[in-house]
Amino acid sequence: MSNQELPAPREGAAPAEEVAPALTLQASLEQQLLYARDLARAFAELEAKEAQRKRLLEKVISAQEDERRRIAVDIHDEVLQMLGFNLMKIDLIERLWEKGEHASALEHLRTLRDTIESTIALLREIIAELRPPSLDFQGLLPTLDEYLKRFKRETGIEVALSSQLGKRQSPTVETLIYRLVQEALVNVRKHAGASRVVVRLQAIDDWIHVEVSDDGRGFVVEEALRNSLARGSIGLHSIIERASLAGGRCEIESAPGQGTTVRFQVPASA
Ligand SMILES: Nc1ncnc2c1ncn2[C@@H]1O[C@H](COP(=O)(O)OP(=O)(O)OP(=O)(O)O)[C@@H](O)[C@H]1O
Ligand SMILES: [Mg+2]
Repeated sequence: MSNQELPAPREGAAPAEEVAPALTLQASLEQQLLYARDLARAFAELEAKEAQRKRLLEKVISAQEDERRRIAVDIHDEVLQMLGFNLMKIDLIERLWEKGEHASALEHLRTLRDTIESTIALLREIIAELRPPSLDFQGLLPTLDEYLKRFKRETGIEVALSSQLGKRQSPTVETLIYRLVQEALVNVRKHAGASRVVVRLQAIDDWIHVEVSDDGRGFVVEEALRNSLARGSIGLHSIIERASLAGGRCEIESAPGQGTTVRFQVPASA
């Protein structure tokens, strides 16, 4: 509508035609203000999320470096030392044999056998920690079963594995589930003071549901999640992030004195 077509102003009360556009304008301004506020809030949330993601990434990288350092120390301090010891023993056996002290040489040969066996066992442990070969060859269930048996031997905590997964899952899904369960179990060992832990696996439609439940001391989840990053702890955050990166989700149920359940689900097609 052009200016010439506007109705002529009347005396007294403002005409309805003028009030209505003013109100519409005000409403639209208010709406835009609300929209801008929402946008600013969403932007601030996004920025906070991004900062948290960066912190988490840094922690993951430094945790990976710590892990490599630990493995290097294990290999250096234990495996190399044992191999050096074996070499010395071979020299000794050689000298004893040359001197004709065959009985003593044979005795040392037997102890050499034992230390070689221990070296092999140690290497197997290190390899299993890096990546259990059975995860590729036998799959998730036997590997988890083996891990849980070792967990029980080392911690004295009772374990139970219940699975309703009919078949093997993709290598990506099996590795993801194995790592997340492992992270939850490390927490049970470190923090829970539990006497029993149950791992449950279930396939429902196209999802794999996993639960790690302990009967330990429990904790305040929100508080732990808030404090952990500042302290440099990444376990729980990494479970949540990795489940969500795979297109799944995770929830942690716990309260002081009530045990802990870490529950996550990932799409079978992840
Ligand atoms: N199963 C559990 N029982 C009792 N407390 C737990 C359990 N799992 C986690 N917590 C609590 O939550 C905190 C955060 O766990 P998170 O795994 O994120 O860190 P962390 O284990 O302390 O360190 P990191 O995993 O980086 O080695 C723990 O410090 C502990 O207080
Ligand atoms: Mg942890």
